[in-house]
Amino acid sequence: MRRKIVAGNWKMNLSFTDAEDLINDLLDTLDEEKPTAEVIICPPYPYLELATDYMEENLFKIGAQNISSFDAGAYTGEVSASMLKSMDVTHCIIGHSERRKYFNEDDKMLTAKVNQALAHQLTPIFCVGESLPEREAGKDKEVVRRQVRHGLFHLDTVEFARIIIAYEPVWAIGTGMTATPEQAKDMHAYIRTLIAERYDEKVAEETMILYGGSCNSENATDLFSQEGIDGGLIGGASLKVDEFISICKQASAK
Ligand code: PGA
Repeated sequence: MRRKIVAGNWKMNLSFTDAEDLINDLLDTLDEEKPTAEVIICPPYPYLELATDYMEENLFKIGAQNISSFDAGAYTGEVSASMLKSMDVTHCIIGHSERRKYFNEDDKMLTAKVNQALAHQLTPIFCVGESLPEREAGKDKEVVRRQVRHGLFHLDTVEFARIIIAYEPVWAIGTGMTATPEQAKDMHAYIRTLIAERYDEKVAEETMILYGGSCNSENATDLFSQEGIDGGLIGGASLKVDEFISICKQASAK
């Protein structure tokens, strides 16, 4: 089985001191436990430097939660891919449902963000997922198909190989209503079918697809043991050291 990935999305949480404590606790515990899963933490922008400063033992990688769709210049309030790259950030969440919903990020903007990330050697963690009404109307696959196609299928094979996808059903995010392992497995398999159609079977097989949405220490093993689930994008549970480390350990189990 290939190495799984666990990414912690801290969202807009924690004071500077709390963030420093969490990073220290994570470092100590990861050093002790040495999970084999690849661990990525995605703190808010102002705390990224803290995380990169502490990164000396390479126990985790660092991702941003967002990037600008623009390259550089007069875009007040924006943070560019090249700035992140210059401070040892390696990953970037793009297209999270909260960005799509509250900041009106549409397919066109997300395509530009993916291009920016790739142009500056950041690995995009590209999020897709349907809302509850969309699932109830039987449109879940149609929605995910649109998001994957519009966000990613302009890439050539070499570029696409650098993408991580996160399937995050919107109804599962922060609600405690985790997708069942079968629902998650089914959508992951569907995403691979789309990739195989656009690229080929090998690319589809090799693409890392994470599950996100109320993943915690109680359900991580059930989710991660499903075929085609390569790890998790963790929100709430990534703010608690014990929970997060437990998830990392479950992702490391053979
Ligand atoms: P959650 O969030 O784990 O708190 O549901 C996941 C995410 O939004 O990435």
